[in-house]
Amino acid sequence: MQFSTSLLALSLAVSAATAAPFTSFLQARAAVNAGVEEQIDAVWKIHESCNGTQRAQISRGVEDMKKLAHNSINHILNHPMDEFFTKYFGEKADPAPVLGYYEQLVYGDKGDALLRCDNIDGNCQFANWNGHWRGNNATSETVICDLSYETRRPLEQLCAFGYQLGSDNPSQYFGADLMHRAFHVPNFVHDQIHHYADSYADCIELAKTNSSAAVSNQHTLQYFALDVYSRKTVKWGCVGEIKEEEDDGHAHAHAAPTSSTESAAPTETSASTTATAAQAAAPTETQAASSDCHTHADGSVHCGAH
Ligand SMILES: *[C@@H]1O[C@H](CO)[C@@H](O)[C@H](O)[C@H]1NC(C)=O
Ligand SMILES: *[C@@H]1O[C@H](CO)[C@@H](O)[C@H](O)[C@H]1NC(C)=O
Ligand SMILES: *[C@@H]1O[C@H](CO)[C@@H](O)[C@H](O)[C@H]1NC(C)=O
Ligand SMILES: [Zn+2]
Repeated sequence: MQFSTSLLALSLAVSAATAAPFTSFLQARAAVNAGVEEQIDAVWKIHESCNGTQRAQISRGVEDMKKLAHNSINHILNHPMDEFFTKYFGEKADPAPVLGYYEQLVYGDKGDALLRCDNIDGNCQFANWNGHWRGNNATSETVICDLSYETRRPLEQLCAFGYQLGSDNPSQYFGADLMHRAFHVPNFVHDQIHHYADSYADCIELAKTNSSAAVSNQHTLQYFALDVYSRKTVKWGCVGEIKEEEDDGHAHAHAAPTSSTESAAPTETSASTTATAAQAAAPTETQAASSDCHTHADGSVHCGAH
């Protein structure tokens, strides 16, 4: 059936003609190998602790994550070093690692990585925790807390309800949230992504001063993906006003950590939504808590509030 196989490959390649060459190549190859064992491991598995509705919502979030990554790949391949790329990554940035990280999210081996719903470490009780990486308890596992199903939005709502990239939390979109969480899983990008700068303003500044840090900066990869995706539906995007600090009106106690090795367990205070946390290992400014806390490998809690 050599003939029909290559016909199929050809028609797939033709139907993907508007996408990046990379996509059509993979689709063509998938058709030729019809079965492709190795793609099975590219699935980010969802644990049995997730019930039907949780599984459905997480799957949808993972799809959104892949849409963001895919669109970013296509954008960079089709418009190399354009204004968006240089804005987020810098004039001297190398697109190859950026392409690579997004590709790993979509096509990379996910190994035994798991998304689970059973609050196994008990952290979902803390105010405003949408989920967390399990750190040393299970490096390949990520817990999604119930709050995510209420706060996380689908990509179709990107830029809606007054959302502004320059001041609001990129993780409000489930796909971008899962992108951040995925970058923390060692099997996915092998610990290459870090928190060098978190706020929108700091990320733009990082692109100007240090492209090699910008290309592997967590929030830069989220912001770029959301910005270029948003322009598919909203002509001018929705960067909006860029806030220097304090993003979402939550009562942040700006924890000035007394020691860089402090690793505070989040404390739930009755009056505020603030969990005090210091980020010990990651090479970035300390951000006092609010909505997006997760724990890094050394047990330090990171709360990216942007
Ligand atoms: C799934 O579990 C969550 C959390 O316990 C719950 O809120 C939700 O109602 C459950 N879904 C169904 C369909 O029972
Ligand atoms: C690991 O498990 C312990 C004990 O259950 C818990 O106290 C700790 O917070 C967990 N670590 C993370 C990163 O969730
Ligand atoms: C860029 O950032 C990286 C990571 O923080 C750092 O190792 C490197 O020294 C920085 N380079 C410059 C030129 O500042
Ligand atoms: Zn993080």
